[in-house]
Amino acid sequence: MERVGVVGCGLMGAGIAEVAARAGKLVVVVESSDEAAAAGRARLRASLERAEARGKISSAAEVLARLRVVTELEELADRELVVEAIAEDEAAKTAVFARLDEIVQSPDAILASNTSSIPIMKLAVATNRPSQVLGVHFFNPVPVLSLVELVPSLMTDPAVVDRARAFVADGLGKQPILCQDRAGFVVNALLIPFVLSAIRMLESGFATAEDIDRGLVLGAAHPQGPLALADLIGLDTTKAVAESLYEEFKEPLYAAPPLLARMVEAGLLGRKTGRGFYTYAK
Ligand SMILES: NC(=O)c1ccc[n+]([C@@H]2O[C@H](COP(=O)([O-])OP(=O)(O)OC[C@H]3O[C@@H](n4cnc5c(N)ncnc54)[C@H](O)[C@@H]3O)[C@@H](O)[C@H]2O)c1
Repeated sequence: MERVGVVGCGLMGAGIAEVAARAGKLVVVVESSDEAAAAGRARLRASLERAEARGKISSAAEVLARLRVVTELEELADRELVVEAIAEDEAAKTAVFARLDEIVQSPDAILASNTSSIPIMKLAVATNRPSQVLGVHFFNPVPVLSLVELVPSLMTDPAVVDRARAFVADGLGKQPILCQDRAGFVVNALLIPFVLSAIRMLESGFATAEDIDRGLVLGAAHPQGPLALADLIGLDTTKAVAESLYEEFKEPLYAAPPLLARMVEAGLLGRKTGRGFYTYAK
């Protein structure tokens, strides 16, 4: 698969587009507005220039030449693989899959979602080709973390899973694991309740954010604490994933604590807005 499409050029979409272009693929990324497309281009350029400065790639310009950020989904008509990476909103994602089904011409094309928690079946049945739909879930930051969860639905053709695995492993040099189509897959089903417990701990005054995070970093050898991790994921995304998990399993451990909801309402979304549990230089 050489012609790749990505829908959404935020944190994850830009990362997926970057790793695909770095692997030599020709990538078209679709954003929702001219303004968002300009922000997406700037994000890609900044990340690739950092990679060049660190000696990870020889030329940012060469990789950028394989990347196009546009605003029309119709530009994905000739793609062999499309990875949807818009915000974690079921109605919005379903609408994108219905449009992709109309637009993407090849019946062999794979339509993938980077969703963290929405059941793949809900996206698959929005199309007339559910056998071509699966979850291909990357981790943040995409250029750094090697894991990819592959999530077939009950309807996915096993050959599609094999092709997606080959693309991820041989094409991108990532490490795939196979997960059932259950909200949260493997990693978020374990990670999100852990992050929510830390937020509850902070909310009830057990300890400060700094001490909770230091506890896990120094006592359990985590690379960063759960509250710093929530800021990295984005508190809106964390809350949306928790809600999907709660909707699926109805377990209290997946319920978003009020502090998380208030912070999202306030626009304190973590690193991407400059403030979450910590404050960041913009
Ligand atoms: N943030 C993480 O750590 C992480 C990790 C793995 C997976 N994910 C998943 O990846 C997806 C994207 O998350 P993100 O953190 O990149 O979000 P984000 O808010 O950074 O980016 C979403 C982008 O999608 C664009 N967009 C929205 N609707 C669109 C549309 N209809 N067409 C084209 N573009 C559109 C927005 O303008 C925005 O730039 C979500 O499903 C999320 O659950 C996130």
